[in-house]
Amino acid sequence: MVFYFTATGNSLYVAKQLDEAPLSIPQEMNKENRRYKDDRIGIVCPLFEFEVPSLVKEFIANSEFEADYFYLVVTYGMHHGGVAQRTQAWLESIGKPADYINTIIMHDNALIVFDMDQQRTVEAEKRVDEHIAAIKGDIAAKKAMIQPAPADETDFYQHFIEWIRRTGPMYAFPLYRVTEGCVGCGTCTRVCPRGCVRLENGRPIHDYTRCANCMACIQACPTKAIQFATVKEPNPNARYRNPHIALKEIIAANWQR
Ligand SMILES: Cc1cc2nc3c(=O)[nH]c(=O)nc-3n(C[C@H](O)[C@H](O)[C@H](O)COP(=O)(O)O)c2cc1C
Repeated sequence: MVFYFTATGNSLYVAKQLDEAPLSIPQEMNKENRRYKDDRIGIVCPLFEFEVPSLVKEFIANSEFEADYFYLVVTYGMHHGGVAQRTQAWLESIGKPADYINTIIMHDNALIVFDMDQQRTVEAEKRVDEHIAAIKGDIAAKKAMIQPAPADETDFYQHFIEWIRRTGPMYAFPLYRVTEGCVGCGTCTRVCPRGCVRLENGRPIHDYTRCANCMACIQACPTKAIQFATVKEPNPNARYRNPHIALKEIIAANWQR
C-alpha cells in the first residue's frame, strides 16, 4: 500500500512504480477513522522547504498504520538537506518511526527560484529511473535505512540562503495575482489539494488560510495567468508537470469537490 501527495506529478510518478494503485493523501484525508493494514506501507511526497509537507505530516499523525515495514520516499529538486533524519526524529516523537526513508532528486518545480525550462535541461543528469529502481529493490528487500544528512552542508546552506532571499517577500499576502490571460477554466480549483481556490465571476480567488503553497494552481494554469504577486519569477512563461503524468491524474489526486 502506497500513499502519495503531488503538486506536479513527480511523486505520483514514483508512487506508481512502487504500487499499481497508489492512494492520494488529499483524498484519503476526507475519510474518517483512517486505519491501514498491509505488509508494507509507504508514503511518497515532495520536499517543501527542507521538510515533508505539513499536509503529509497531518495525514501521518492522524492515521493508524499497521505494517511490518513502514517507509517514506521524498522527491526533491536540488538539496534534501538531511530531511530523512529530521523526519525520522519527528516520526519517533509521535511514536511512528519508519523502517526506511530515502530521497530521489527530480525536476525542481520551485518556480519561484528556478526557471522550469532550464530545469528540463538538467533532468537527464538526475538519473531518476535508476534511483527509483534502486529504491524499489530496497523496499522489496525490506532494507532498514534512514538516509544520512549530507556530510558537506556548504551547498545546502547556499541554496537555503538563496531560497530565503527570493521567497522572503513571497510570504507577503496575497501570494498570487491573476492576469488578464485567465480564461476562467477552473483548472486551478481542481488541482488544489486543500480546496482553497474558488471561481468568483469566472476569476480564481485563493483562500490563503488553507493554502499549502504547493504551487499546483500556478503550474497547471493552461494560460499561465496565475503568477506570484510580489516576487519576480525567473521565468513566468515556463511551467512544469512531470512528462509521464496527465493533468487529469493530478486533478483526480487533489480535487476537493
Ligand atoms: C514550496 C516548495 C518548496 C520546495 N522546497 C524544496 C527544497 O527545500 N529542496 C529541494 O531540493 N526542492 C524543493 N522543492 C522542489 C520539489 O520538492 C520537487 O520538485 C518535487 O519533486 C516536486 O514533487 P511533485 O511534482 O510531486 O509535487 C520545493 C518545491 C516547492 C513547490
